[in-house]
Amino acid sequence: MSARAVATGSINLGQGFPDTDGPVKIAQIAADAILAGRGNQYPPGPGIPELRQAIADHAARFYGLRYDPADEILVTAGATEAVAAALLALVEPGEEVIAFEPYYDSYAANIAMAGGVRVPVTLRPPDFRPDLDELANAITERTRLILLNTPHNPTGSVFTRDELAAIARLAVDRDLLVVADEVYEHLVFSGEHVPIASFPGMRERTVTISSAGKTFSFTGWKIGWVTGRPELVAAVRAAKQFLTYVSGGPFQYAIAEALGQPDSYFTGLRDDLRMKRDLLSSGLAELGFEVYPTDGTYFVMTDIRPLGETDGVEFCARLPERAGVVAIPSAVFYDDREAGRTQVRFTFCKRPEVLKEALARLTALHR
Ligand SMILES: Cc1ncc(COP(=O)(O)O)c(C=O)c1O
Repeated sequence: MSARAVATGSINLGQGFPDTDGPVKIAQIAADAILAGRGNQYPPGPGIPELRQAIADHAARFYGLRYDPADEILVTAGATEAVAAALLALVEPGEEVIAFEPYYDSYAANIAMAGGVRVPVTLRPPDFRPDLDELANAITERTRLILLNTPHNPTGSVFTRDELAAIARLAVDRDLLVVADEVYEHLVFSGEHVPIASFPGMRERTVTISSAGKTFSFTGWKIGWVTGRPELVAAVRAAKQFLTYVSGGPFQYAIAEALGQPDSYFTGLRDDLRMKRDLLSSGLAELGFEVYPTDGTYFVMTDIRPLGETDGVEFCARLPERAGVVAIPSAVFYDDREAGRTQVRFTFCKRPEVLKEALARLTALHR
């Protein structure tokens, strides 16, 4: 859809990447590192020590979670590689992986690469809460792990403390691992982000994944990481060794610095995105979309039935020509395509004037 946006001159509210870069001073550190010859050759396999320390400090500062930079942290090529390496490392062929659908598109591919069997549990509108009975019923003798994503792409739901506590209890009772994709940890507008690793019995069975891309608006740098107990991190590292081995040397220095930004940076990012969420959500609602609430991430989920539309894939295919805007049909994030047939996802991580222009263009839907 991004290629389509370029080809048609459309405003791309499909793929989630900001149209403004992160802080200049962080970019400057990466540029300086390159020119000073820091990180231009293969960095250490687990990541540079400065970044591993910064990741540990960040987990302690925001969540009170303690990880040893020596063997409980691994730097990856974005969260994408972290998810892939975790699943390749921890899932044996034929084992089942439970994931809440709609889900981020790499999950299905990575479960397949690991030879695993995908078991979806559906989040349903309007508020896309996890159905804990459905989750419990999905667990079988063959279940290896729960692949969790909160704040959740594409629905924007943020799992509550109670929901996470219940999921954690199930994981402990049924002796399951959890791979927790928390890349949107700082993009929470209502409620709070609680890492599932912080619940009783969970630190030892959770591989937590995050990424600098979303938090610092440098999605092209692909600096992600994994935290967990040494045996789990070592397993993920063994898979990562033969995926990329290492990546992003100079950027690692910059993200090490970025993670120590003052609270005002993190709240500023959130407040800016909240304003953009409100702008796009209210505009889409005025245009007649059913707009579901977004508590976190930078996506808003809508339903197109009030516009007289019945198929999101077809709607999004025609949207560039009809209105000069690109969006993503949510059906692609579901195994149960019917469940998401009329849902369409928009991203709001764009400058306000771009969002306003997109809304103005979308009035063409009424002509
Ligand atoms: C839920 C989720 N996980 C992982 C990623 C990928 O993160 P990265 O760019 O760090 O690989 C994304 C990016 O959109 C995402 O939405």
